[in-house]
Amino acid sequence: MNLRVIKSPAEMRAYSDSIRAAGKTIGLVPTMGYLHEGHLSLVRKANELADITIVSIFVNPTQFAPGEDLDSYPRDFVRDRELLVRNNTDVIFYPEPKDIYGKNHKTAINTKGITNILEGSTRPTHFQGVTTIVSILFNIIKPHVAIFGQKDAQQAAVIKRMTQDLHFGIDINIHPIVREIDGLAMSSRNIYLSKSEREDALVLSKSIQRAEELIREKINDAVTIIAEMRKIVHSVKSSDLDYISFVESDSFEKVNNLVEGREYYILIACRIGKTRLIDNSLITF
Ligand code: PAJ
Repeated sequence: MNLRVIKSPAEMRAYSDSIRAAGKTIGLVPTMGYLHEGHLSLVRKANELADITIVSIFVNPTQFAPGEDLDSYPRDFVRDRELLVRNNTDVIFYPEPKDIYGKNHKTAINTKGITNILEGSTRPTHFQGVTTIVSILFNIIKPHVAIFGQKDAQQAAVIKRMTQDLHFGIDINIHPIVREIDGLAMSSRNIYLSKSEREDALVLSKSIQRAEELIREKINDAVTIIAEMRKIVHSVKSSDLDYISFVESDSFEKVNNLVEGREYYILIACRIGKTRLIDNSLITF
């Protein structure tokens, strides 16, 4: 199979139009590259859900705040391309920032409420960058379905909200978190971790596993569970906890008392050394 790399938005649009005119469906996996098994699981899902799989690789400058890791964000297009060939991708959309954001670009997409809490509270401009680039990609690529990872659960919820609110008519599919054998959620940023930090980083998944245990024991008080999770996080010196929170799975509203039969996310964000990591679990109480 031939994998095409398309860089120009105009060419990408024409290609998508031709696919749609032929009566075929398009599945999109938006990424910032430096692909790992988590990304590739989304690609395989797209293969299942649509006729044509398009993966975008674009390190989107507008979702990084000044001082964040835009310049050092890992990039390896040759390796990404090879992985995508092996996972039956039809097209890589690989534009340059100047082709996405013209000199006079003035427009941003904003989803209210859900973007101000948790990730949005620590990174106030982040979600506006994400919703804007995802809207641009949706408009250029015009997919029937787009696949996102539960790894970024709040991002997925924001994109679902935006897609409904703006009537994009695109099906948003959320795929479970892919983990390393020892439990660490896969992330392009894991390469920033030193050997000892890589060990310490397990406090994220371990604290979530502990919460899942307590939930199986029907402890319904989030404060008690969070206190147990904090103990695990603080057991390593390199950790600097940003938040642990229990939220309703759809609205992302914070909860303190878990109610039988309801679905929640347990979310954690924590720095290990200089690297900020996130993890979560979707649970039904
Ligand atoms: P990026 O961090 O490259 O992630 C691309 C997609 O892969 C996201 O939907 C993310 O949730 C998913 N993903 C990452 N790690 C995963 C894992 N361990 N298991 C399952 N899925 C995982 O998220 C972004 O890029 C950007 O914000 C983007 C949506 C592309 C907009 O720029």
